[in-house]
Amino acid sequence: MALRSLTAADVPAVRRIYGKASVRFLGRGSMTGREAQEYVARVQRWHLADPVEQYVLGVDIGCDLVGVVKLGCRPDRHGRVSYVLREGCWGRGYATEAVRELVGFASTTAGLVSLGARHHPDNASSGRVLAKAGFTRIGARDGMIEYSLLLDC
Ligand SMILES: CC(C)(COP(=O)(O)OP(=O)(O)OC[C@H]1O[C@@H](n2cnc3c(N)ncnc32)[C@H](O)[C@@H]1OP(=O)(O)O)[C@@H](O)C(=O)NCCC(=O)NCCS
Repeated sequence: MALRSLTAADVPAVRRIYGKASVRFLGRGSMTGREAQEYVARVQRWHLADPVEQYVLGVDIGCDLVGVVKLGCRPDRHGRVSYVLREGCWGRGYATEAVRELVGFASTTAGLVSLGARHHPDNASSGRVLAKAGFTRIGARDGMIEYSLLLDC
């Protein structure tokens, strides 16, 4: 598994990642081809900013882009993590591996000191991913389960 930047060649894969089953708890519809194209272009622009406020990295398994992980970075060095994997690739530990890798990226490359994440109460596998990646459940807010993680500096 490797986390890597997205390129224009990833547009079809990104569209598949944001398919119907995957967006169930994301508060959005599945992605069209045009939306995927715009999304990848937007992500590439975000990565050119200084400082970067939003990272989106592809989860690459043997040259197959199976998901994306996101890291939002605030000026107070607190970050926000989220992740989406293509249906059909779930239950193989990929999300956990990717989030663990992203946690390392957050404390090194992004220079963050703490992370937060949240999931819908019915999305139990997402909570499991966060627990396995070292996050602590801190409560519920706005109908979502909230997690946090302090990073080693
Ligand atoms: C949530 C998601 C990222 C999980 O990805 P994944 O690669 O399947 O996750 P992993 O395989 O690393 O771990 C899944 C864990 O959840 C567990 N799990 C799966 N379904 C579950 C369920 N219904 N209830 C409880 N646990 C469940 C698995 O057993 C595994 O835990 P284990 O290793 O202790 O057995 C993936 O399902 C996804 O992309 N969903 C759509 C997008 C989404 O919901 N993103 C999160 C937004 S907060």
